[in-house]
Amino acid sequence: MKGIILAGGGGTRLSPLTKITSKQLLPVYDRPMIFYPLNTLLRAGIKEILIIVSPDHPGDFLKLLGSGKEFGAKFTYEIQDKPAGLAQAFIIGADFIGKDNVTLILGDNIFEDDFSKTIKKFKSGGQVFAKKVSDPERFGVVKFNKNGRAVKIEEKPKKFLSSYAVTGLYVYDSRVVEAAEGLKPSARGELEITDLHNWYLNKGELRVDMVKGEWIDAGTFDSLLKASNWAFKRASLDQARDTRTASKKSA
Ligand code: TTP
Repeated sequence: MKGIILAGGGGTRLSPLTKITSKQLLPVYDRPMIFYPLNTLLRAGIKEILIIVSPDHPGDFLKLLGSGKEFGAKFTYEIQDKPAGLAQAFIIGADFIGKDNVTLILGDNIFEDDFSKTIKKFKSGGQVFAKKVSDPERFGVVKFNKNGRAVKIEEKPKKFLSSYAVTGLYVYDSRVVEAAEGLKPSARGELEITDLHNWYLNKGELRVDMVKGEWIDAGTFDSLLKASNWAFKRASLDQARDTRTASKKSA
């Protein structure tokens, strides 16, 4: 299993912060945002990771993350010249993916869950993760039938489809490269990842699991603040737990 972190994009909703740096390098409490999706991949045992960045600040990513050695992994970097859509990651990453399975995570998505079991046992097809949200129209939305099977996925639906958003973590087999190469840009001029989900859904090869813990798409001022507050709370809980364990040991 290979991993890709998609960390390009314009970050226009976070301007003026993103005039001087990339969104994924902004702090979420005590570390740069990209550390969270990176940790999701590392936790799942993924050691070969491609980091796709915009042409604006590639040196800063390299300075922060380096070769990957420090993280027990190997990092490769590619530039996405223009934010032409999430699905373009698989075209840029075609050589990197080769014949392997691949997990793509968005550089501004923060997950509390540990996906290692699902990722480690993945064999073929497509696997995405959904979460019930109050503002589904901002995302790709998935509709389930009464047996809990995904039947329809639509990008930013104008008419209510369901409350389940497709989150920014996707696992595919290597056929995703040819599927992405066959896509046409949507009306908004992007290669849509939703079209790739549908490519697998139409073949009956898409699994949709639920995200159980917190999921934050940190791309707006409100969600960036929410992410920092969440990370602060989690760090405080971890610290309290460590202190309890230490005091038990010394007792
Ligand atoms: P978005 O938040 O949808 O887009 P954005 O980062 O350009 O932000 P804004 O809408 O405020 O301008 O992107 C989700 C993630 O995917 C984010 O980490 C950036 C990344 N991305 C790319 O790397 N390339 C792309 O072509 C797109 C659309 C997004």
